[in-house]
Amino acid sequence: MKTKTAPNLGKPLSTHPRLLRWVQKMAALCEPKAIHWVDGSKREYDQLCAQLVAQGTFTKLNPKLWPGCFHARSDPGDVARVEERTFICSQSPEGAGPTNHWMEPAAMKQKLRQLFRGCMRGRTMFVLPFCMGPLDSPLAQIGVQLTDSPYVVVNMRTMARIGKPVFKLIDSQSRFVVPCMHSVGAPLKPGQKDVPWPCNPEKYIVHFPHTREIWSYGSGYGGNALLGKKCLALRIASVMARDEGWMAEHMLILGVEDPKGHKTYVAAAFPSACGKTNFAMLVLPEIFAREGWKVWTVGDDIAWLKPGADGRLYAINPEAGFFGVAPGTSEQTNPNAMAALRRNTIFTNVALTPEGGVWWEGMTAQPPAQCTDWQGRPWTPEIAKATGAKAAHPNSRFTAPASQCPVIDPRWQDPQGVPISAIVFGGRRATTLPLVYQSFNWSGGVYAGATMGSEMTAAAAGQLGAVRRDPMAMLPFCGYHMGDYFRHWLSMQRRLVETPRVFHVNWFRKDEQGNFLWPGFGENMRVLKWIVERVEGHARARETPLGWVPRYEDMDWRGLKFPRETFEQLQAFDRKAWRREILLHEELFLDLKTHLPKELVYERELLICRM
Ligand code: GTP
Ligand code: SPV
Ligand code: MN
Repeated sequence: MKTKTAPNLGKPLSTHPRLLRWVQKMAALCEPKAIHWVDGSKREYDQLCAQLVAQGTFTKLNPKLWPGCFHARSDPGDVARVEERTFICSQSPEGAGPTNHWMEPAAMKQKLRQLFRGCMRGRTMFVLPFCMGPLDSPLAQIGVQLTDSPYVVVNMRTMARIGKPVFKLIDSQSRFVVPCMHSVGAPLKPGQKDVPWPCNPEKYIVHFPHTREIWSYGSGYGGNALLGKKCLALRIASVMARDEGWMAEHMLILGVEDPKGHKTYVAAAFPSACGKTNFAMLVLPEIFAREGWKVWTVGDDIAWLKPGADGRLYAINPEAGFFGVAPGTSEQTNPNAMAALRRNTIFTNVALTPEGGVWWEGMTAQPPAQCTDWQGRPWTPEIAKATGAKAAHPNSRFTAPASQCPVIDPRWQDPQGVPISAIVFGGRRATTLPLVYQSFNWSGGVYAGATMGSEMTAAAAGQLGAVRRDPMAMLPFCGYHMGDYFRHWLSMQRRLVETPRVFHVNWFRKDEQGNFLWPGFGENMRVLKWIVERVEGHARARETPLGWVPRYEDMDWRGLKFPRETFEQLQAFDRKAWRREILLHEELFLDLKTHLPKELVYERELLICRM
């Protein structure tokens, strides 16, 4: 029998005894051939990218067109988050609640130990320290991800603060470190040739909220594998936030500057692939820009919000980059994102052009005459017409540094965060939900968020287009019982002197022919302006059963010919549709029954009475 030798620890960049012991123990479990402590330097990044090119995972793009950029193609079975394989292993099923998958922690641990045993054979294990939030922020959280994927390491260098400065923080302070285990689950036998995108059909994305541990197996893609993002910054952080009196949310953060230079910060929760990146980098209609309005980006996906000393709610963006949806991103729809991804960007599952560039649906009006699709097959507009084949996968993404965004807010790395004046909820709804309304108060706002619905998108494997309840856009990301999460939201009011005003928007309402009623994108500024003016107490509104809504004349229509009738159609409150909608609210509430805060039951009753 072969005796197991303790793997060589490599060159540890930390002296933290517990960390060293954990790395040793995990290495003994996973049996990697080597251990690489990630220093986070540019040199290391370049070496890893070169290695990824050599093994066929990366293609270096034409440096004249796309300096510092790479293209990656994933396994066709590993293209999105896998919600069916995502688990919250709280001590009791009650802790995870009915909206999460649960398994008994000890049983799951045993299963994971089985899966991870020898899972890194023939591969290097990276010890990747990362910080979510600016290094000097009291709101920041630290994790260490052990991973056998160099693709993950290079992506994390853009998405988080990583490497030596984080080891230094770990060593100098007795700060809590979230242990994150990750393997693509594809050990190599001696002499076995690797594939460009190793992964395993069996996938597990597992969270232990009690011990604040993350274990991810079988996937190398996005939120499944970049563990700082959804796993730590949302699922685990939501539990920390509940315990410590703050909030971890699936929200963008933006700042609106008026012509006098006064800035109002807004956070908005939209489900995956429903326009957060677009809204965060909104390009103003010309007339607004000329007048001196500006919109600044703080973050495009995640917000951590905490009451400040003045009793207002402050937000940081825990991330350092954008992992944005590529399809639909263009010079017209989002020039700021286009500028951010022009260099030093990793593209995954987009199409490759013959000049060594990238392309995706909606990037240019004119598709390239030919390219290689996301699966490496030849693609032409003719083929697309005949077969419907997409050049880029609908959930193809770019990994770009936030610092490259031309409208990144000067305060985006403020360690204290920015003060949030408004919270906006929004879903993708073809019917029923108006373009915009303002909730009457905080608990009404929590009700609006809690009952949010949205049509499913390609960001997760599942039934495309079906409307599902997605409370606060957190359905896939809340690390504990959704009913308790609502209670936590309500309780924030007591921790604040001033609560943000709460709004609900829907850019996606359609007419009978199936056309969007609202032009969206930059024109969303008109809605945003009304929101900001409501917050500042300058804009008028009309009362409806749902809340306050703008009348046609309360909106700034300069530079856009938008018919009053279309606006009325967008804002229409259809009583019949709302009867159905409220029954859907009830369906969610029934699932959460024992944990549902009274306030939400009363809010529902009030809504019914107002109708
Ligand atoms: P995640 O990164 O998955 O959390 O999503 P996100 O919310 O950042 O998604 P993103 O901004 O990339 O949304 C992408 C999709 O929303 C694309 O299909 C866009 O075309 C569409 N979209 C964004 N804004 C608008 C809008 O104002 N109107 C319409 N009709 N579509 C929009
Ligand atoms: C989402 O699905 O909401 C994303 C992409 O932001 S991922 O990081 O893959 O979760
Ligand atoms: Mn997201």
